[in-house]
Amino acid sequence: MPTWCDATITKKKVWADGLFTITIKADGVQPFEEGQFLQLGVYPKDQIGVQAAIINRPYSVASPHGDELEFFIVLVPDGDLTPKLWALEVGDGLVVNDRGAGRFTLAHTPDADHLWLFATGTGLAPYVAMLRTETPWERYKKIVIVHGVRRESDLAYTEELSNYRTTRPGQFELIQSLTREQSKVAMRGRIPALLASGQLETASHCLLTKDSSAVMLCGNPAMLDSMEELLNSRGMVKHRSKTPGQIVLERYW
Ligand SMILES: Cc1cc2nc3c(=O)[nH]c(=O)nc-3n(C[C@H](O)[C@H](O)[C@H](O)COP(=O)(O)OP(=O)(O)OC[C@H]3O[C@@H](n4cnc5c(N)ncnc54)[C@H](O)[C@@H]3O)c2cc1C
Ligand SMILES: NC(=O)c1ccc[n+]([C@@H]2O[C@H](COP(=O)([O-])OP(=O)(O)OC[C@H]3O[C@@H](n4cnc5c(N)ncnc54)[C@H](OP(=O)(O)O)[C@@H]3O)[C@@H](O)[C@H]2O)c1
Repeated sequence: MPTWCDATITKKKVWADGLFTITIKADGVQPFEEGQFLQLGVYPKDQIGVQAAIINRPYSVASPHGDELEFFIVLVPDGDLTPKLWALEVGDGLVVNDRGAGRFTLAHTPDADHLWLFATGTGLAPYVAMLRTETPWERYKKIVIVHGVRRESDLAYTEELSNYRTTRPGQFELIQSLTREQSKVAMRGRIPALLASGQLETASHCLLTKDSSAVMLCGNPAMLDSMEELLNSRGMVKHRSKTPGQIVLERYW
């Protein structure tokens, strides 16, 4: 049974209809590693305070541990929890568990020259947290982040990520791709197809090879499966403590 902490929404940023970031203040959440997730939950209206009734799901924390914690969330229209989270406004309450969990962290990612971070949709969240710390910048010569979404309006965190081009010159590449519309700011196509065609490596001026790269994959499970297959064909395998490899992944469903 998790230990639940009361939390209050201090900020809500809507990137597009149904795509949002909430910042919460919650006392009692223990320090966690960037990339880990916490359970967010709400009480059903008729069962306020009944812990056993809390409707909860895991969410990657999009910020390092601190007084306030950030979560990047998409509304799944028929979902149990996200319509309730989407309806919350600044000042509203929710609950969060007190301990981070998960191994989708830099501590569980192998060393390499290049760190490739692939995300679909809200799978960007853990990378936002990691890049706000010094750890990846100290460990990897080059970091390439590839964010695949349906439409240009779903490209959240662009300003923050783009800033790393200036603050980390020569060390950072941001590649955004859209699957459902054309745009001048992003590539067109699904991430695995863009890797297979060589477009991602050309655009980032960075090779994705077994000897040069560590790879993190987060978000849509079908993207993870396609990418794993593609990377396997390049001789890359999942990284495990007993059998080192190159790939670390987080499945959102
Ligand atoms: C480790 C972990 C971390 C996660 N972190 C995040 C996060 O940072 N942000 C976030 O938005 N979600 C995240 N999720 C997904 C989240 O836990 C919920 O599954 C999601 O918010 C839907 O909850 P729901 O109750 O509204 O839908 P449910 O009633 O649980 O319906 C779930 C169905 O919705 C679909 N679905 C679930 N999540 C997504 C998604 N993100 N995008 C598209 N379709 C989805 C799937 O088809 C799934 O079967 C994470 C999941 C895991 C396992
Ligand atoms: N603005 C929003 O993002 C938004 C707002 C409100 C509600 N929603 C709802 O939220 C849910 C999730 O939507 P989402 O767009 O965040 O997530 P998603 O459906 O996982 O799509 C994100 C990206 O992943 C791609 N993708 C899907 N399967 C793939 C595969 N096998 N390989 C590689 N890439 C793949 C999608 O391409 P394709 O386009 O080709 O599928 C899309 O570019 C949906 O129920 C949606 O209706 C989304």
